[in-house]
Amino acid sequence: MSIPKNRPLPNSRRSSHYFDPSPAVQSRPRTVFLHLGELALELQADRGVFGSRGVDLGTLSLLREAPGPPPTGDILDLGSGYGPIAIALARQAPGARIWAVDVNERALELTRTNAEAAKTANLTASLPGDVPAGLRFAAIYSNPPVRVGKGPLHDLLLRWLPRLESGASAYLVVQRNLGSDSLAAWLATQGYEVRRLKSKKGYRILEVRGSEPSAAPPS
Ligand SMILES: C[S@@+](CC[C@H](N)C(=O)[O-])C[C@H]1O[C@@H](n2cnc3c(N)ncnc32)[C@H](O)[C@@H]1O
Repeated sequence: MSIPKNRPLPNSRRSSHYFDPSPAVQSRPRTVFLHLGELALELQADRGVFGSRGVDLGTLSLLREAPGPPPTGDILDLGSGYGPIAIALARQAPGARIWAVDVNERALELTRTNAEAAKTANLTASLPGDVPAGLRFAAIYSNPPVRVGKGPLHDLLLRWLPRLESGASAYLVVQRNLGSDSLAAWLATQGYEVRRLKSKKGYRILEVRGSEPSAAPPS
């Protein structure tokens, strides 16, 4: 299967998808667990939010296989859901500022609750439009919303990847059968250097870097 070209669900079912701004499905909170080395977190999840039955395998693969976060700077979790990636990053890099960005208000509220419970004061959960425009990121981590469809996914990546600092990397996890290889090929056509860091249990971890700006001419 490849990334769907258009939004894959009929309108009648759209209201219950995890990327809705305000999920219509009734709330039913539950606790899920994240174990990552010595880090053990209890996180609140809910219906209408991605991974509500347990931390996603792709998310776990990203956290286990991608390089750890830079110790300082602004770091983006693009599409944060209830916050497993953002909160793990915030705990691993207490000197950095983590931006957990999502369109789903229920997910953002859960991220705030989970960040407070995990005592991560260095995390800001916000809607995409609320991130200061001039901010550049020392790293981006994402389990991106592939199910929004190919066009919206490409638009999303083209909105945020150019905000990487020079030489910085984005780490994406994408299922092989949801089009990881075609996404990597498309990113290359957009001028990004893409490296497959790991392929595990059907997930690919991609490292994406902007092309280095050419050296400034001597003055
Ligand atoms: C595959 S889920 C990953 C959630 C979470 N990071 C995790 O690992 O459990 C992708 C997330 O992207 C969010 N999303 C969808 N469209 C978005 C957009 N335009 N901007 C930011 N986030 C978006 C969805 O609401 C969803 O929470």
